[in-house]
Amino acid sequence: MDYKITILKGDGIGPEIVNEGIKIFDKIGKIYNHNFIYKRGYLGGESIDKYGVPLSEETIKLCKESDSILLGSIGGPKWDDIDPNLRPEKGLLQIRKALNLYCNLRPAMLFESLKDSSPLKESIIKGGLDIMVVRELTGGLYFGPRNRDEEKAYDTLLYSNFEVERIAKKAYEIAKLRKNRIINVDKRNVLDSSKLWRDVVIKVGEDYPEVKVDHMYVDNAAMQLVVNPKQFDVILTGNLFGDILSDEASMLTGSIGMLPSASLGDSKLGIYEPVHGSAPDIAGKEIANPIATILSVAMMLKYSFNLVKESEAIEASVKKVLDQGYRTPDIYSEGTKKISTSQMGDLIAWNIH
Ligand code: IPM
Ligand code: MG
Repeated sequence: MDYKITILKGDGIGPEIVNEGIKIFDKIGKIYNHNFIYKRGYLGGESIDKYGVPLSEETIKLCKESDSILLGSIGGPKWDDIDPNLRPEKGLLQIRKALNLYCNLRPAMLFESLKDSSPLKESIIKGGLDIMVVRELTGGLYFGPRNRDEEKAYDTLLYSNFEVERIAKKAYEIAKLRKNRIINVDKRNVLDSSKLWRDVVIKVGEDYPEVKVDHMYVDNAAMQLVVNPKQFDVILTGNLFGDILSDEASMLTGSIGMLPSASLGDSKLGIYEPVHGSAPDIAGKEIANPIATILSVAMMLKYSFNLVKESEAIEASVKKVLDQGYRTPDIYSEGTKKISTSQMGDLIAWNIH
């Protein structure tokens, strides 16, 4: 079967890690007889350089016509001083909105062979961590009415019932595939928007009696994540809280260079990208870790194309290569073997069966 993939390499280390992702598609295609067809679009700084804007109509069209999208990372010091409305990050927010990708999945899992890189004590992470942050992505503070004048500025945290309903449904569906548990994170003790949020989450839950939902205030959740992370399985939360908590959760695993993400809507089309940023300081040096991007390819195969076997083959290969002791510099420790970005991609591709 043919799959049309839009490739958005982006900035900084984006191009090098995406190249490794493409190696993985090619290998999967060869073994399992799929045809992945790549079309190149532009996002963030590279789009500013090419079109003068961080997201062009051409790239939106390309994305809409494709089956799914692989993104590297965007941003860098080169574009720091431009008009805030033209910053690379705006392009990312605009593409999420343009494609209605309201559901952001950010798994934070601890790889057994990397457990020493977690900043948490062994007693706290013993037995592993496996958390799925389900973050609302096209509403809330990021997209509410806003303004700035000489004297003041405001952003608005606005959620409508339908926005909470659809993300809550996604979270319940995901919980059913995992441990039937959700911790909903909000700030109901202070915010009206959180009262609405929690009421809707509870209401949607009536259709999922098998799923147990608990509720936590966001400040407490930030604390609980470091004190007792194992109590979390699915975390459901809004856009800004999810932005913050997903970085926190990912760092608990000690290896932000390993974590993938998916941004989904109502169709199969999604954006798959590593959780980490564009790391301009190490760009072009062949030392970036491509595993987050490679695992994003695995997520795409599973969530966009329902190619579960293929997705699991990639995950198994990543695990095998780590177990064999191969490491990019960010996850290197004494006694392991340090290799480059492309060597890591080659090894993972080689070990896919
Ligand atoms: C993320 C990033 C983005 C966000 C930025 C780059 C706009 O931090 O994907 O978490 O805040 O959503
Ligand atoms: Mg973020």
